[in-house]
Amino acid sequence: MLSYNHGYHAGNYADVLKHICLLQAYKSLKKHHKSIIYIDTHSGNGMYKFNSEYMSQDKEYEMGINKLENYNDKNLSIKYYLKVLRQINNSKKLLFYPGSPLIMSNVTDNLDKLLFYEFDENEFKILRQNLSKKINSKFYNKDGYDFTKQIINKNEKILVLIDPPYESESDFERVVSTLRLINNKYYNLTVLVWYPILNIQNNDLFIENIRKIGSNIITRIELPITKYDDKIGMKGNGMILFNGSDFLIQNMKECIKELYKIFKNEDCNIKPKIQKI
Ligand SMILES: C[S@@+](CC[C@H](N)C(=O)[O-])C[C@H]1O[C@@H](n2cnc3c(N)ncnc32)[C@H](O)[C@@H]1O
Repeated sequence: MLSYNHGYHAGNYADVLKHICLLQAYKSLKKHHKSIIYIDTHSGNGMYKFNSEYMSQDKEYEMGINKLENYNDKNLSIKYYLKVLRQINNSKKLLFYPGSPLIMSNVTDNLDKLLFYEFDENEFKILRQNLSKKINSKFYNKDGYDFTKQIINKNEKILVLIDPPYESESDFERVVSTLRLINNKYYNLTVLVWYPILNIQNNDLFIENIRKIGSNIITRIELPITKYDDKIGMKGNGMILFNGSDFLIQNMKECIKELYKIFKNEDCNIKPKIQKI
């Protein structure tokens, strides 16, 4: 069993950014492609109850989905995300927070195929139970980075979410090497990578290593929450978009401003970013 459990963090502001971006990426691809393959390299178990022992420990969702739940302004990406969460919950009031597998299972159609990787045996078992009725899905209790060794069909449009726990430096390194491989070999992939901002020097180094891949189709979105100091903990988070469409980038540009207003702490003096790297 791995030490990380996403139940402690489900519904936090990082999940909010990641899942809004994921939904917009899918929407954008479906405008031009009848069917897509969705690959979730780090799936988690798919469903998190607010009153579970995990979620009720630090209640990270209070500074995340709870702050957004009653959003009543104009941003369409945020509104669509909230609509999807309510549909999945089958209730206006959210009873549980759905993870990326459940969100994608609910918005995709029978022409799409979904592939879920989860390394932790226990999380994998729960994931399979939570998605047991989904016939267009395959499940792998394997290392998610290995998706590149298995199933890249160059004729299909593929959307990949890479969402590792970053409990060790190796996730930052493996993300960079996976993006490098994809950039050299595949043109049919759109890849979203979630990352935490833990330490400024390391964050700069991570972005610089991605920039050195030398691709001109990588965009970075960054949502700072607190001021960037030396204290331990997450100061904000970001998404790397590899081969993101103009539609996706434009929608995220508008959305990130709204999320910044809602989530940033008073002391935060860093502005959100969306830029080609
Ligand atoms: C951040 S969580 C995923 C959350 C999920 N993507 C969502 O948005 O709901 C990361 C998950 O990756 C799993 N994991 C860790 N290392 C892995 C690996 N090498 N391959 C596949 N899964 C891994 C962990 O067990 C954990 O469930």
